[in-house]
Amino acid sequence: MNEAVGPVRSLEAAYYTDPQYFGQELLGVFSRCWQYAGHRSALQQPGDYFAFEIARQRLFCVLDADGEVKTFYNVCQHRAHELVSGQGHAKQLVCPYHAWAYDLSGQLITGPNLNAVPGLDKSKICLSSVRTEEFCGFIFVNLDPEAEPMDVWYPGVREQLREFVPHIDSLQPIKTVTIPEKCNWKVSVENYSECYHCKINHPTFATGVIKPQTYDIQPQGYCLRHTTECQNLNRMTYPIDLDSNEHAGDYSSWFLWPTFSFQVYPGNVLNTYQWQAHDHENCTVYRHWYTIDGQLSDVIDKLADQDRATTVEEDIGLVEAVQRGLNSRGYVPGPLVLDPKYGVNSEHSIAALQQWMRAGTDLNFQYHAVED
Ligand code: FES
Ligand SMILES: [Fe+2]
Repeated sequence: MNEAVGPVRSLEAAYYTDPQYFGQELLGVFSRCWQYAGHRSALQQPGDYFAFEIARQRLFCVLDADGEVKTFYNVCQHRAHELVSGQGHAKQLVCPYHAWAYDLSGQLITGPNLNAVPGLDKSKICLSSVRTEEFCGFIFVNLDPEAEPMDVWYPGVREQLREFVPHIDSLQPIKTVTIPEKCNWKVSVENYSECYHCKINHPTFATGVIKPQTYDIQPQGYCLRHTTECQNLNRMTYPIDLDSNEHAGDYSSWFLWPTFSFQVYPGNVLNTYQWQAHDHENCTVYRHWYTIDGQLSDVIDKLADQDRATTVEEDIGLVEAVQRGLNSRGYVPGPLVLDPKYGVNSEHSIAALQQWMRAGTDLNFQYHAVED
C-alpha cells in the first residue's frame, strides 16, 4: 500500500452489484484461493466422506485407506453422475447410475461389463482430485492445482493459532449458527474486517472485554490479523484460568482471505466465521463453535446465543443497508480512512482487502504469498 498518493477510494459499487463481477470472482477468487471444506473430526474412519460446494463446483472429502484426507470433484468419470451426497461412509465409492466403483484413492476398480470393452484400461481412470490441506484440524481446499501452500499464503498463522489454542487438535464443532445476509459477500467480509464501525454499532464490544483503543487489524500475507488488549476479565460470563497458559487471557483473530476466520476469545475459546457467496447479492455466514472432544457446553451455548443476539444481529443490519446503498445511483465511492498511525479507527485492512478484491477479478493476476 502506498499512502503517499493521496486518499485511496473505496471499491466501485459495480463490484458488489453487477453479476458479471461475481462471475469473474468464481474464477479469479473462489477457484484460486484456499477455502474451508469442513472439520477433520467429521472423518473418523477410512471411507468417511462429506460433500460440499466451492465456486459452484460440487466436491467431496474422503478419508482414504492410509488415513489421509482426499478431496475429489463429485463426478463419475463415466457419464458424469454425481457420486455422493451429504455425508456418510463407504468402503468403495460406487456411482448410483451404472455402478462403476472407485477405491478411496479415487482409482476405478470395477464396473459392470467393463472387461468386455477392448482397449479399456481401468488403471487410467481416476476421479479428479483437488488440492487439500489440514490446518490445525480444519480442512481447506484449493481448486488451483498450482496454488502455493497455506503456510505461504498465511505466514505464521498455524503457529500462532496453536499458541492461542493449545488444545486445537482435540476440538470438534458443537454448534453452528447460520446467518443468511442479503448482501454481496465482500460487504460482509469488509464489515468483519474493520472496527471503525464498532464503537457506535456494537455497544457490548465497546464496553466489554476488549480494549477498543488498542484494537488493530494488520495484513499478514493474505491473512488479516486482529489484535487487542483485554480488560475486565473478572467480568467474563465464564470462568477463565489465567495461569493455565500464556494466552489464556487474550483475544485475537485471523481472517484468511477470502472466506474464513479463526477467532479466539479469552479462555482459549475458538470460534470461526465462514462465508459462502451464493450470487452477487446474497451470502450466508456460518458461525461455528468448538469444544474439546465435542463436549456439550452451556458456556459455549450461551456465548453463541449472546453473539447471535448482539454483534451478529447488529452487523446484519449494517451490511444489508450497505448493499442497498451500493445500488443507489447517488453513491460515489468515498475515501478510505487510512490513519498513518493505524489503530481501531483506521481502514488499512479495507485497503488491503479491496486490493485483493480488485485482483480477484483479473485472471492475469498471480497470487503471491506475502505482499508489502
Ligand atoms: S455415470 Fe457413473 S457409472 Fe455411469
Ligand atoms: Fe461489526
